[in-house]
Order: sequence, then C-alpha cells, then structure tokens
Amino acid sequence: MTFEYADRIKRLPPYLFAEIEKIIKEKKSQGIDLIPLSIGDPDLPPPRFIIEALKEEVANPKNHNYSFSQGEPEFREAVAGWYKKRFNVDLQHDQVVALLGSKEGIANIARAFINPSDKVLVPDPAYPVYANGSTILCDGTTVPLPLLEVNGFKPDFQAVNPKNIKMMFLNYPNNPTAATVDKEFLKEAVDFAKNNNIILCYDNAYSEITYDGYRAPSILEVDGAMDVAIEFHSLSKTFNMTGDRIAFAVGNKQLVTGLTKVKSQIDSGPPVYIQKVAVKALQSYKNNEPPDFLKKNNQVYRERRDVFIERLCSLGFKCIKPKATFYLWLNCNSDSMEFTTKLLNVGVVVTPGVGFGECGENHVRFALTQPKEKIEEACDRIESVFK
Ligand SMILES: Cc1ncc(COP(=O)(O)O)c(C=O)c1O
Repeated sequence: MTFEYADRIKRLPPYLFAEIEKIIKEKKSQGIDLIPLSIGDPDLPPPRFIIEALKEEVANPKNHNYSFSQGEPEFREAVAGWYKKRFNVDLQHDQVVALLGSKEGIANIARAFINPSDKVLVPDPAYPVYANGSTILCDGTTVPLPLLEVNGFKPDFQAVNPKNIKMMFLNYPNNPTAATVDKEFLKEAVDFAKNNNIILCYDNAYSEITYDGYRAPSILEVDGAMDVAIEFHSLSKTFNMTGDRIAFAVGNKQLVTGLTKVKSQIDSGPPVYIQKVAVKALQSYKNNEPPDFLKKNNQVYRERRDVFIERLCSLGFKCIKPKATFYLWLNCNSDSMEFTTKLLNVGVVVTPGVGFGECGENHVRFALTQPKEKIEEACDRIESVFK
C-alpha cells in the first residue's frame, strides 16, 4: 500500500546531506577509505566538565520529568546571564526560549508567523533549513537573497524588493561561506527589516568559533533589533554538543512568544538533565572572553585552516582565509557536483556548493572537522587530482 505525500513534502528538494550519505555508503561498500570533510559536526569532544556534569545530572531521578516548552527557569536565567556577559545585552525571562537544537527553532519560527504563500527572504547560498524545514514546510514562498563574493558574501539590501516580504533569515558567521560581519552591517540589516516590517531571524550558531582576534557580534547589540529580531544560538558547536540537542532563541518578546506557542503544542522542552548541564556550560564564561577550552578548540581549527589553505593555494586555488566557523568555501571554478565527484573518487568527501543554493554553484564547502593528519592526507589526495 502507498500513501500520497502532502504537497509540501513534494516541494522539498532532496536533503543534501542524505544524498551525500548515499554516495558515501556506495564508496564504502567498494572498500574506499573516505575522509569526511562534508558535515559540520565537530570531531572534538565536549570539555571534560560537561561530561562529568552530564553523568551527575542524568543520575538524579528528579531530572527525568517533563520540562516546560519554554525551558527550565534556571536554563533561561543562565542564557540571560550569558548574553549579558558575552554581548552586554539585557534579556527578560520571557525573551528566552529553550530549543531542541537551533535547527528545531529555525524550522518552528515559520509555523508561528508564515501563512501559505507568505514570502521569506532566504540567503543563497545558505544552511538549507531556512528554505526547506522552515519556509517550504509552512507553505511559504522563498525569495533568494544572493550572497556574492564581490559583496563579501553579504546581501545587497538596496537590490531587494521588500514588497510583501514577511520574514528574512541571516546567518553570520556564515555557513557555508564562513563570511563574517561587523555591527555596521547588522545595523543596516535591522534598519532594512524595521523599515519594511520584516521579521529578522538571525542565526548565530557559530558566534564562538572565531580566530585571529575576531569576535562575532549579536544582532541584539544593535539599536532597534529588539523591535524586529529573534536570534538563534546553540551549544552544538560552542561546546561540541551536537548530539545533545540543546539551543535557545532570544530577542523580541512577540517572536519568542510565537515560537513558544508553537512548541507548546509539539514538544515539552529539552531533557531537564541536558538543560542543567547547559547551565554549567554557559556559566563557564566568566566574562566576554571565551573560556580556555574554547580558546584551545579554536586554536585547533585555526591550525587546520592554515595547513589546508596553504596546500590549496600551492595548487593554484584562490582561498579566502576565514575568521570564523570551521568551514572553507572554495571557488572551484567549475561545476560543483563534478568537482565533488572528482574528490570523492580519491576518497575526500566535500559538499557541493550548489546544494546550498544556485549562487553556491562553482564552489565547494570543506568542513575541517577531522584531525590535522587527516586534513593533510586529504590535501595529498587532492594534490594527486590537480597537480
Ligand atoms: C548555520 C547553522 N545554523 C544552525 C545549525 C543547527 O545546529 P543545531 O540544531 O545543532 O543547534 C547548523 C548546523 O550545522 C548550522 O550550520
């Protein structure tokens, strides 16, 4: 027996990473040893104190009841405390909601505000969930917001027709381009959103993975942002806790309330023991500086970045040295699927840029989530193709 999928499911493109996983399986079955540089899942472990806290909190029988859709008060307080320390932004408790990963919040925000055919500005290239999990699954219409290299992978708001746009996604430090922005750009984004009555969803999942002295701002540091913006953060990349599914959204009260209303009909908050561990993680910030373990992690990513870029440059590729994220966005000057297949044939798995949107064509994304020796081996293999 077969059942017909809902139209919104039929409108979904194939999930990019699922396709890649299929090819990987095929290669593995052929006995090819693969170096996965495709998915943004850190290979580094969570810091020791988080594992210890997890053991302690999970062993407490009181931590196994339902939580609240908005999250435990203690967790929301810790988030507000972190925002004050890290960004000097004040948040009330009803401006914070706990999430089962920021992906979940990004998907559900559209359920609260998007009606069928409402238009949503989605960066191109971008993390695919803004278009698919969020807009399309809510029957909204995506309007691409090109991120071009000539503009530093920032949108040109002057070139956008804002008529009937209800919502806009932005993400810096950016996946996949690794581009970063300053507060001046964020002010421009907030003004554009305010002048045109657009909900601004700002994804700041990589704010803590930065190098060379760069510190990523929060959009909520900008004047007027609280009127239009909701910001998504996650413990996934900061604390290497991708599988623990803990994140949060903060900002404009109505936007947070809308998201919470949706969630109250769908989930009952992240597990209490995970929220308690997250409190300890957030409290490891003593001031606006990253704690020591994070500095060390970022140093590891920075070394990988430097090795990789040096090797690619020696092959004649032009590389932009990113100041944040663990991604490298390479202009491969050719069809991104073909380039990806060439690398797959020598066992290096990367993500074709076209999977992030049409403007991602002629690019590939490397995720430097493998130890340095593996990165070097990947470089040797890439050299064998292009030298
Ligand atoms: C830009 C961006 N936002 C959000 C997420 C989701 O992270 P999580 O759901 O683990 O918080 C990711 C994951 O890769 C990402 O790259």
